Amino acid sequence: MAENIGFGVDVGGSGIKGGVVDLDTGELVGERIKILTPQPATPDAVAETIAEIVRIAGWEGPVGVTLPSVIRDQTALLAANIDESWVDMDCRELFSRHLPDHRTHVLNDADAAGLAEARFGDAHARQGSVVLLTFGTGIGSALLHDGLLYPNSELGHLHIGDDEAEHIASAAAKEREDLSYKKWAKRVSKVLRTYEALFWPTLFVVGGGISRKHEKWVPLLECRTPVVPAKLHNNAGIAGAALAASEGLLP
Ligand code: BGC
Repeated sequence: MAENIGFGVDVGGSGIKGGVVDLDTGELVGERIKILTPQPATPDAVAETIAEIVRIAGWEGPVGVTLPSVIRDQTALLAANIDESWVDMDCRELFSRHLPDHRTHVLNDADAAGLAEARFGDAHARQGSVVLLTFGTGIGSALLHDGLLYPNSELGHLHIGDDEAEHIASAAAKEREDLSYKKWAKRVSKVLRTYEALFWPTLFVVGGGISRKHEKWVPLLECRTPVVPAKLHNNAGIAGAALAASEGLLP
């Protein structure tokens, strides 16, 4: 059994997933516990579900939590794809009620994935200027330089033409509009080219559930920056949350 372990919970639009993480490798130790996201996903309902996951795991230490929101000083500031009652939610106060015996650390979901990839992922993701993007209900982003995070970048909301990047090219947009990988990859390429004109990264890392099928679309992307799939795939959020909680890497 690994000795350097932590606990992370990743809050998504459809599921809330948590598990014990080996902090030397980023891998899950034991099973990943998943509970469907309560609807409506109000702060109290989500926090209670997180508490349930922690109870099921029998975990006693600090808990890292990701949210699809801007997090500053442990307060959620934005609710693009979650219940709007999260805006201005003081997460310290919320979790002190639902998880009174645990120290909790909340951070943006894509930032968590970025921290995990920078620590445990592809060697190229650890140095240089890296833009990590997660494709799911929205597009999440993490900006990293030599492994250090500039938090809350929210590049999914950048306007490209008349619409936000995430409305054009998230995995949800692919599903909603029934796009082929080829058609969707064209849209993703346009988004990547817009980002590279602004940030000139040395590497894009692409994650989210759809990165499990990376061979179907990453080779179709057209941009000048190399693109690699996230190594931790969908567990990057859990691993990054656990890392942030254990090391106090807080936005
Ligand atoms: C949210 C981000 C989040 C991303 C991916 C966006 O709509 O504004 O905070 O990282 O979705 O979940």
